[in-house]
Amino acid sequence: MLFHTIVAGLLASVAMAAQLQQVTYPAAPQSRATMWVYVPDNVVENPPLVVAIHSCQSSAQNYFQNAKIPWHQGSDRKGYITVWPSSSTECWDVSSRQSLVRDGGGDSTAIGNMIKHAIETYKIDKDRVFVTGGSSGAMMSNVLAATYPDIIKAVSLYSGVPAGCFVSASGGVAQWNNTCSGGQSHASAEQWGDVVRAMYPDYDGPRPRMQIWHGSVDTTLSSNNYQETIKQWTNVFGLPEKPVEEIQNYPQANYVTQNFGEGVQGIWAVGVGHSVPSNLTASEEWFGL
Ligand SMILES: *[C@@H]1O[C@H](CO)[C@@H](O)[C@H](O)[C@H]1NC(C)=O
Ligand SMILES: *[C@@H]1O[C@H](CO)[C@@H](O)[C@H](O)[C@H]1NC(C)=O
Repeated sequence: MLFHTIVAGLLASVAMAAQLQQVTYPAAPQSRATMWVYVPDNVVENPPLVVAIHSCQSSAQNYFQNAKIPWHQGSDRKGYITVWPSSSTECWDVSSRQSLVRDGGGDSTAIGNMIKHAIETYKIDKDRVFVTGGSSGAMMSNVLAATYPDIIKAVSLYSGVPAGCFVSASGGVAQWNNTCSGGQSHASAEQWGDVVRAMYPDYDGPRPRMQIWHGSVDTTLSSNNYQETIKQWTNVFGLPEKPVEEIQNYPQANYVTQNFGEGVQGIWAVGVGHSVPSNLTASEEWFGL
């Protein structure tokens, strides 16, 4: 009898525990990305939203289950909702003409649609919509900050490249761009800023606050991409290219936090390769969660 009660109780708790679920959303042309959502058991009212974007050769399920990707835990602890976009290709499309412009179709439009769908469906607090990702997911985070600045409040991205750095000469989808990944794509701050502005012409509203992490010995997406990304967003925010404040050994040993003024923060991880591990506490702090 007791045994049965325990088994029944366990089954009930298993059945009730929140799980990652696929949901349908208004898809975008030229993207077959799928949308996955995690609503924690203790979801708060008018919840914040964090969009966690996976790296190459991954998926929403893999990323969600990866113990090094902390957003599942963060969601359980703090009651915010997480959306996990899943790509149908090896890496996210951060190269095609359609994906590098607002509502142009492609994966960026798909994720933009996911965010809008989540805001409506889960009564998300529109002032607390955040994006994070690693590697290919970090590249996509930069592209989303450029294409959907009106619906994203802040971004915390790990080991990416500037928005538009993977742009393909043909206009089609290219899985990889050796020039950019190898750290050979250099431009002035103004030119990188123009790349962002061209992705959503005529937009002059607020931009998502950008937190940019990169390892100093990254050989997959060259460490040069840190400085190029900083140039890009400081230009968009009208900030100086040089930090106004530098904090050694913060948020952890051998990391340097560089503040460029309101809106842009860089975190340079000395001796760290690809990709910098997510620091949940530091990213949540950036988001104000
Ligand atoms: C790779 O990206 C650069 C910009 O970073 C671009 O100029 C170049 O054409 C791209 N390469 C290919 C093969 O599309
Ligand atoms: C993450 O950042 C916080 C500060 O925001 C820091 O206290 C903590 O030690 C960092 N985590 C790791 C694993 O270093």
